[in-house]
Amino acid sequence: MVFKVSTQTAVFLRETRETTGALVFGRRTFDLTNGWGGNHPLDVPVFVVSGSVPQGWVYEGSPFTFVTDGLESALEQAKAVAGDKDVGVGAASIVQQCIRAGLLDEVHLDLVPVLLGGGVRLFDHLGTGPIDLERTRVIEGAGVTHLTYRVVK
Ligand SMILES: NC(=O)c1ccc[n+]([C@@H]2O[C@H](COP(=O)([O-])OP(=O)(O)OC[C@H]3O[C@@H](n4cnc5c(N)ncnc54)[C@H](OP(=O)(O)O)[C@@H]3O)[C@@H](O)[C@H]2O)c1
Repeated sequence: MVFKVSTQTAVFLRETRETTGALVFGRRTFDLTNGWGGNHPLDVPVFVVSGSVPQGWVYEGSPFTFVTDGLESALEQAKAVAGDKDVGVGAASIVQQCIRAGLLDEVHLDLVPVLLGGGVRLFDHLGTGPIDLERTRVIEGAGVTHLTYRVVK
């Protein structure tokens, strides 16, 4: 997969690639992307939380592991594989569960200038209390702003 991006974004993506050791996603995102065409662009092991294992995706050397015993199990397996590196979590329901459980350390947002008007909201179902974030980084790319926040605990 080739991305044509600004220098600032390229540096940011390269850094993300170097610091990410594993990913955890929800099954819906996996299905919508058809398993990112076979391998996630970050090229790290991906743990997919689901109630079932899809046929055809379990094979020797697959980058995907389907976890049917819950999100905590997926996070544990991802941490074990990632070692010193970060575990990235994606997809709305997974991020929301991690925030609610106090498991998220950082939020990364790639902000583009379009108002979608509908769809799945990322910061939904978070309960009533405010969750404080500290902005730690802003990178201006071309047509995209990469924002990083620390979750204040
Ligand atoms: N902009 C971005 O960077 C980005 C990145 C990723 C996703 N997205 C968007 O996010 C949306 C998908 O998010 P989503 O919240 O609708 O779905 P999701 O998180 O991708 O997947 C939800 C599914 O994951 C499984 N799951 C989640 N938590 C579980 C748990 N604790 N135990 C067992 N299984 C669990 C269930 O699968 P089963 O039904 O198999 O039980 C559930 O139906 C899409 O619109 C996608 O395009 C955007």
